[in-house]
Amino acid sequence: MKTMSNKTFKHLLTVASLVALASAHAADTPKLIERDGRHALIVDGAPYLMLGAQVHNSSNYAGALKQVWPAIHDMHANTVEVPVAWEQVEPTEGHFDFSFVDTLVKEAREHQVHLVLLWFGSWKNTSPQYAPEWVKFNNARFPRMIDKAGKPSYCLSPNGEETMQADKRAFVALMAHLKQVDEKEHTVLMMQVENETGTYGLVRDFSPKAQAAFEQAVPAAVLKHKKPVNAATGTWSQVYGDYADQYFHAYSFARYIEEIAKAGRTVYDLPMYVNNALRDSIPPAKPWNNDFASGGPSYDVIDIYKAVAPYIDIVSPDIYNPDSKQFAATIADHLRPDNALFVPEMSNAPNYARYFYGILGAGAIGISPFGIDYANYSNYPLGTALTDGRMTAPLAPIYAAFAPVQRHWARWAFEGKTQGVAEGDDHADQMLTFKNGWKAKVSFGQWQFGEKDWPQNAKNPPPHASQTLGGVAVAQVGENEFVLIGQYARVRIESSTPQGSMIASAEEGQFDAKGNWVMERRWNGDQVDWGLNFTAKPLVLKVRMGRY
Ligand code: DGJ
Repeated sequence: MKTMSNKTFKHLLTVASLVALASAHAADTPKLIERDGRHALIVDGAPYLMLGAQVHNSSNYAGALKQVWPAIHDMHANTVEVPVAWEQVEPTEGHFDFSFVDTLVKEAREHQVHLVLLWFGSWKNTSPQYAPEWVKFNNARFPRMIDKAGKPSYCLSPNGEETMQADKRAFVALMAHLKQVDEKEHTVLMMQVENETGTYGLVRDFSPKAQAAFEQAVPAAVLKHKKPVNAATGTWSQVYGDYADQYFHAYSFARYIEEIAKAGRTVYDLPMYVNNALRDSIPPAKPWNNDFASGGPSYDVIDIYKAVAPYIDIVSPDIYNPDSKQFAATIADHLRPDNALFVPEMSNAPNYARYFYGILGAGAIGISPFGIDYANYSNYPLGTALTDGRMTAPLAPIYAAFAPVQRHWARWAFEGKTQGVAEGDDHADQMLTFKNGWKAKVSFGQWQFGEKDWPQNAKNPPPHASQTLGGVAVAQVGENEFVLIGQYARVRIESSTPQGSMIASAEEGQFDAKGNWVMERRWNGDQVDWGLNFTAKPLVLKVRMGRY
């Protein structure tokens, strides 16, 4: 019998109803679906919110896992992202060893978490360092890129046919193994194909083979997706002018990755994505000037990856830029009807905690801060310098608040009911607008009682006022009803109509394991007179508004 591919399923679901989702078989392979330009990762028949944690690069060995699980547990993560290196599964050509994968899957099940596997194949941060030695040191068979002067680059060429075939064989073997050990349980939810591809220091491959391809006409699929710059058709230079080298390089990577993803999915059809070494979204992209990894899936070439690599579902950003304007632009660039928002890596530093709310509120299928294990390593200054429980402490309470509500949240996000706010570097107020004439003002740096401009408060602001820690995610779950999760922020919900409005009820509580709301207490009096004030400890409020 012919099985339905993820692609077909995705298409059909754009016209299907949520009722169909509910009846989906629990044993179905995880799938990404899209409806009305929004996305959901379906796990066991319902939208799933990935509260992820990515381990350090070298934690992909059985002996390293003992430093992983305590951090995952502290973090309240439901999914762990772990590398699987080509060098570890195929140290000798044609001889595969999946013992680490087996240990990982077994231990993940024992710890009741899902996995996302990161295929460190031909490229890891653009380098071939995770490729087996028999690949790394055989330039004749597995060519590196060549510069204009004929000198080899450090980076494997995406035009190396043998390299692609070898990488593909290993990836297919991995997918076949996963199908065998995990098809029934689907502990593994998604696959990342390669890691932060692209090339530093060289805009593209100038080898004779690459040069010949560069001089061909731009393929129709690329022209259809990526707007021509100079001419409607022609060679890369004719069509894309100063951008031609980078776009051609992106095309070469996308083709290579597509071959691998397609072959892998033919064996075992899991959702697949690529991650990008972030390119600043502001100001608008200029031609490559030795200033980013050319050819990688940066936001400005998502269209090329979409054109060439339909078996890659998502192009995702790795967020290590703390600037709040860049953050907002990055989210906007990656949240598209044809691209689910998924953040597979983000700094684990405390000032990124607020971005969890921005990302999950925006309707992401998931998020995964990087370096979440207690191995004795920190990637400071990208992340925190702490490597023990003090590292997870500022992030874990956010997951603890979202964890019980994750299935609801993923469904609300899929239905377009969620929004998020992250405190800007300027600490300015932010406004959210909702259906049925509601709006919410979110402000930061306040005590719980009174106004900022009261003389005592102005003289003595709270310690967090000088930091950027505030964030709120809001779901409008009924006409007049909201679920809020937040920290270090004040939220005032008001009617945007001329009528007066006030809180009908504001309940602090949580959703239980069955998804029912359990109230702990009602907030009233001082607790609502100055807005809904979230402090250091993230918590969940269910608020009903009324008009008079
Ligand atoms: C982004 C990469 O994808 C990660 O594997 C890691 O190297 C971080 N950068 C830096 O810690």
